[in-house]
Amino acid sequence: MRIVVLVSGSGSNLQAVIDAVQAGELDLEIAAVGADRADAYGLERARAAGIDTFVVDFRGYGTRAEWDAELTRVVAGYEPEVVVSSGFMRIVSARFIETFGGRYLNTHPALLPAFPGAHGVRDALAYGVKVTGCTVHWADAGVDTGPIIAQEAVAIEDGETEEALHERIKLVERRLLISTLSDIVQSRLL
Ligand code: GRF
Repeated sequence: MRIVVLVSGSGSNLQAVIDAVQAGELDLEIAAVGADRADAYGLERARAAGIDTFVVDFRGYGTRAEWDAELTRVVAGYEPEVVVSSGFMRIVSARFIETFGGRYLNTHPALLPAFPGAHGVRDALAYGVKVTGCTVHWADAGVDTGPIIAQEAVAIEDGETEEALHERIKLVERRLLISTLSDIVQSRLL
């Protein structure tokens, strides 16, 4: 199975997938890693692993539709069976979903449908919930919407900072992402 991974930031979840592939625990090929910004550290991780990278910078396009069309064209060029949003902080739109809908995987650091959006960890803390977690789902054109594949709860500790909680959630997120990809490879999900 060929995948393309999209990142915007540090790419630590991407690194976990790269490590699992290199360790022979995940039988897939990361055809490319793409970002919406040239300074996404995830691109460095990909280069270090010898994986193709590309950038479709949101700021370089007049409209979201033009950016979305270019992103779709570049990703499609790698002929992926699955596209993974791993900390990709952009909402894709019509063209992308027409092309990759039903096989566009997203991870989110909260128990959806609670706390969607860019600050799922912060919002859960601000609300004062005692349990949050992470979600792996097939993404559509909404904000963290689409059919849920896997979720796992994480209890919030008293006085925990956003950063500390996010790091604990990401440990679970990585495990769920890898087990979901593994299930897809074994054709249980696609
Ligand atoms: C993950 O928690 C992801 O769900 C969220 O941002 C984080 C990405 O971290 N949207 P990284 O770039 O993989 O380190």
